Amino acid sequence: MKCRRLIFSRNLAANEIQNALDVSKSELGDDYLTEKNFLETINSQSAFCKVVTYNRQFAGFAMCQVFGPEKIDEVLRLPDSPEKKDLLSKGKIGLLDSIAVRKDMQNNGMGIELSEACLKEFEARGVDTVCAMAWKNTGGEINIEGILRRMGMKSGPEIPGYWNYMVDSPGGHDCPVCGRPCKCSAVFYGRDV
Ligand SMILES: CC(C)(COP(=O)(O)OP(=O)(O)OC[C@H]1O[C@@H](n2cnc3c(N)ncnc32)[C@H](O)[C@@H]1OP(=O)(O)O)[C@@H](O)C(=O)NCCC(=O)NCCS
Repeated sequence: MKCRRLIFSRNLAANEIQNALDVSKSELGDDYLTEKNFLETINSQSAFCKVVTYNRQFAGFAMCQVFGPEKIDEVLRLPDSPEKKDLLSKGKIGLLDSIAVRKDMQNNGMGIELSEACLKEFEARGVDTVCAMAWKNTGGEINIEGILRRMGMKSGPEIPGYWNYMVDSPGGHDCPVCGRPCKCSAVFYGRDV
């Protein structure tokens, strides 16, 4: 009997935006991403969104951006640090921007599949370095840490209250862990390609 792979990743299709939005709302918060964000990503040259399916069911997504050092402040809002100085010397930067997997499908390798698909795409687009701003919740957990370390990334500065600046929501980000305004932080992770 043939062994068939159950986990697949590919680019987001327009008819999957509602699935992606549902996962985003439950795992990253109601106000974190909008339908417009996904639509813009599908039509963008400088961004992409990978999805993962399990047994043909939508399981999760990863949104990424590719940009030059001139956009570091706008995209990352990193404080002055050795990591920022290093990024400023690069040509093309790949950002693993938002990644989320359906709660009932987590811990089954879906996040790893997504991160590997993103890394391949970054390599194909010729980035010099990859990075992520990892969500560290008020309990001190970084859900994505194992995956980022597996990708060979190292941690850098931690920014308290980061998500309130990144999410355009009156009163701050409505966090699924700690509410509004969000008291979680972000930790920079990166590595050269
Ligand atoms: C973070 C997130 C995307 C990870 O997705 P996931 O599908 O659960 O991740 P994986 O199953 O691929 O990997 C998770 C862990 O399970 C382990 N694992 C994966 N497949 C495994 C398997 N078959 N057997 C044993 N362990 C396995 C991985 O090594 C990894 O280890 P870690 O605990 O050191 O991280 C997911 O937990 C999520 O959506 N969380 C909420 C939103 C969030 O925090 N997003 C990140 C924002 S920066």
